[in-house]
Amino acid sequence: MLFKKGILSLLACTAGASGAHIRNRDTTSVFLLAGDSTTAKQTNGGGGWGEGFKNFTINSPSFAVNYGHNGATTSSFISGGDWETVLSAASQHSASKTVYVTIQFGHNDQKLSDFVETYKSNLRRMISDVESRNAIPIIVTSISRRKYGSNGTIKDTLADWAGYAISIANEGGTMYIDLWKNSVEYLEKIGETAARKLDLKSGDATHLNGNGSIVFGRMVMDLLCEKSAAIKAVAKQNEKMSGDIQAGRPIF
Ligand SMILES: *[C@@H]1O[C@H](CO)[C@@H](O)[C@H](O)[C@H]1NC(C)=O
Ligand SMILES: *[C@@H]1O[C@H](CO)[C@@H](O)[C@H](O)[C@H]1NC(C)=O
Ligand SMILES: *[C@@H]1O[C@H](CO)[C@@H](O)[C@H](O)[C@H]1NC(C)=O
Repeated sequence: MLFKKGILSLLACTAGASGAHIRNRDTTSVFLLAGDSTTAKQTNGGGGWGEGFKNFTINSPSFAVNYGHNGATTSSFISGGDWETVLSAASQHSASKTVYVTIQFGHNDQKLSDFVETYKSNLRRMISDVESRNAIPIIVTSISRRKYGSNGTIKDTLADWAGYAISIANEGGTMYIDLWKNSVEYLEKIGETAARKLDLKSGDATHLNGNGSIVFGRMVMDLLCEKSAAIKAVAKQNEKMSGDIQAGRPIF
């Protein structure tokens, strides 16, 4: 038993995917993006980082599917059937491919009163559901809103929610990326004038237009590459854009 466990963890290390079940798979990876409108495709009511991530940061034949749902909370995503759709896709692909499910909620959960414990238990459930489908869950903290105070710092109320998400990831050693912290830092460096060019439309400091999706889709992939060599192996790099993000320079 011990021997077997040792071999398995050695293999898991080689694959760079902690917690992954090791099976006969091709090298294709599939990224299933679960989240709210800040992950979702660009439409009238929403727009997140998912499309930029999907279109520009992954080498074929690996691919992503964006399941971002405008207005979703962890609870509505589950009760409305989106979560079952994601899990079915995870089961289908994980027979032959490495499947990652990114989980980013908080923007709408935070508007509900007395919701912190429900948010946490929903995230715990989502992590175990993904693992039960032989896929790898990745917790993503909420992207920051682009609201600035008069001194150029970001005024955002999602810090606590990012903290809750990280605490749940840490309970079981789930992979996570801190998109909240990294987006706040980047937005403070580029400043409000540059940030306004990433808004879905004038007056919407939450949702991203296509250019914003490209910038933050790249940020998400760069953060994932820092955490996982297996993801880095299927990522399409853009050194210029990654350098600009790291240095806090506007891209558009
Ligand atoms: C900037 O303003 C915000 C409020 O808008 C405040 O919380 C923060 O402490 C200020 N930072 C500095 C460096 O003055
Ligand atoms: C991504 O690709 C889809 C399909 O081609 C397109 O509709 C969408 O506008 C693209 N979005 C971005 C941000 O590149
Ligand atoms: C995106 O950036 C390009 C290049 O700077 C620019 O031409 C285009 O107008 C921008 N799109 C939006 C929606 O701002």
